[in-house]
Amino acid sequence: MRVIEAKDYADLSRKAANVISAQVILKPHAVLGLATGSTPIGTYKQLIEWYKKGDIDFSAVKSINLDEYVGLMGDNEQSYRYFMNENLFRHININLEHTYVPNGVAADPEEECRRYDALIEEVGGIDLQLLGIGHNGHIGFNEPGQAFEKTTHIVKLGESTIQANARFFESIDDVPRQAITMGIKSIMQAKKLLLIANGPDKKEIVEKALYGPVTPSVPASILQFHPNLTVITCFE
Ligand code: PGA
Repeated sequence: MRVIEAKDYADLSRKAANVISAQVILKPHAVLGLATGSTPIGTYKQLIEWYKKGDIDFSAVKSINLDEYVGLMGDNEQSYRYFMNENLFRHININLEHTYVPNGVAADPEEECRRYDALIEEVGGIDLQLLGIGHNGHIGFNEPGQAFEKTTHIVKLGESTIQANARFFESIDDVPRQAITMGIKSIMQAKKLLLIANGPDKKEIVEKALYGPVTPSVPASILQFHPNLTVITCFE
């Protein structure tokens, strides 16, 4: 595990974008695992800037997102598909048809989970997976207490996650209660992992996850076992 302490959020964003950019330069048809949340926004902004300068070409890249709320269409402003389109995809030359986010309104959500697992296999697995971390140690929407061996599945969101995400909705009642998420097993199968954590409120959980016991009550603690994990933090 490599842990890099960034000076500030801009530095964290630049460093994370550098890691992603190196991946795309080394393997132009890379499969990037992407994440939503407030932390990656600066990373995506930096990638867009470098794309506009002509430094990165996303034309052969494929992307696979971690998760999506159940019940939200892709054109809903709170959906993760919408977030990705707005914060990254529509500003770069990635082929939108090669960007994958679970379908939150699939008629059969269980079937959608199987389809998503098959898709990850079809594209040859994820080369580099970007991850944020929740205050309860969740990665993707893998909430505390769930088995480590799950692939894509449907989850009930934990109370702290609902509260944390309420800031993006008009009221807490509007926050969906379920999501489709890649499981810990799917995440651990990515060839490389890049975890980013920003802000003093993330310090305690990051330390627990990286240096504490590996336990399903802290889902991110399993990352200690990944052979190629990079963590970039800024706790200022
Ligand atoms: P954040 O979310 O980047 O908005 O803090 C991280 C997460 O919950 O995974």
